[in-house]
Amino acid sequence: MATVTYAKASRIYAGTERPAVNQLDLQIGDGEFLVLVGPSGCGKSTSLRMLAGLEDVDDGAIYIGDRDVTHLPPKARDIAMVFQNYALYPHMSVYENMAFALKLRKTPKDEIDRRVKEAAGMLQLDEFLGRKPKALSGGQRQRVAMGRAIVREPQVFLMDEPLSNLDAKLRVQTRTQIASMQAKLGITTVYVTHDQVEAMTMGHRVAVLLDGVLQQVDTPRALYDTPANVFVAGFMGSPAMNIKTVPLTERGAAFADLHLPLTREQVEAARAEGGDGKVTVGFRPEDCELVSPHDGGIPIVVELVEDLGSDANVYGHAALGGHNERFVVRTDRRTMPNMGDTVFVRPHAGRTHVFNAATGKRI
Ligand SMILES: Nc1ncnc2c1ncn2[C@@H]1O[C@H](COP(=O)(O)OP(=O)(O)OP(=O)(O)O)[C@@H](O)[C@H]1O
Ligand SMILES: [Mg+2]
Repeated sequence: MATVTYAKASRIYAGTERPAVNQLDLQIGDGEFLVLVGPSGCGKSTSLRMLAGLEDVDDGAIYIGDRDVTHLPPKARDIAMVFQNYALYPHMSVYENMAFALKLRKTPKDEIDRRVKEAAGMLQLDEFLGRKPKALSGGQRQRVAMGRAIVREPQVFLMDEPLSNLDAKLRVQTRTQIASMQAKLGITTVYVTHDQVEAMTMGHRVAVLLDGVLQQVDTPRALYDTPANVFVAGFMGSPAMNIKTVPLTERGAAFADLHLPLTREQVEAARAEGGDGKVTVGFRPEDCELVSPHDGGIPIVVELVEDLGSDANVYGHAALGGHNERFVVRTDRRTMPNMGDTVFVRPHAGRTHVFNAATGKRI
């Protein structure tokens, strides 16, 4: 087992100007499950491939444990990688697929047998060991791909969107299996996904990337409670946080008819760095309540109600600064409004997020 350290590691592809990964600084603990998340093209796969040795590091360094692996070939790094488009050997059985890498390494037969059976047990593949891949479901094949990585007992696991070929239900199941397998083995794991739900449910910590730049790395809870900037605030959480830039007053934010009080320090921070009389305020759909029209709330005209069974997501718009802005709020099923209704929404005190309007940084 080992730690992983990215030390200002950059990758600039030939013929491009902007680094695909820009001075990435990231320490991953021994046995930690770290998730890299971000929108398409933000540099997740590149970061992972740099660690695997499949991509050059143009600047900075990467360490596994205290070993500088920056310029080592993939083979010398003691890692195992599971890709999105893993290919199993079609003519080999599940057992042979899992045993293959060990055979190449001339691992003794009984040792191979022990490791394959152990991995198969962990992944609930025991009964399929004799089958060929074509006689397996997508989820079972996925588990075989995982099994091939496990039997190698590497220092670090790398996984790049390993669940993206699976249907929604299977994704959820396999997600749990991977997480519990990782917990059992305690092998340091770097897992890439663009799915923030996957990130939040699987990672001990989550690193959020945008345009090759690390935005924030923290526990899922901390990312949710205290996003460092507007991008992280909007990216983590589903439905996404309501984030609006509104006029800044002496004492707070003027949110339509609603006055959101801010401390003097917050007002000052909002004015700094070119904030220019505005402030960006966010609240999550689940962090607000419907109030009566007289209590002063944001008047939202309901466009769509998504009944989730236990509760409901209400989508609508409100006039803000002369144009319509969209909002989404989560309500109790008993207070579910109808399409065309106007509801009055107040964010819960202490559950609003405030950002500098110019820099997007949390205040
Ligand atoms: N071989 C390459 N040559 C030039 N540019 C590349 C190359 N591979 C990737 N890029 C660019 O580098 C950036 C990061 O790509 P990367 O594959 O790491 O993104 P990603 O976060 O994994 O995206 P996705 O979620 O779509 O898989 C993108 O802008 C991409 O176009
Ligand atoms: Mg990718």
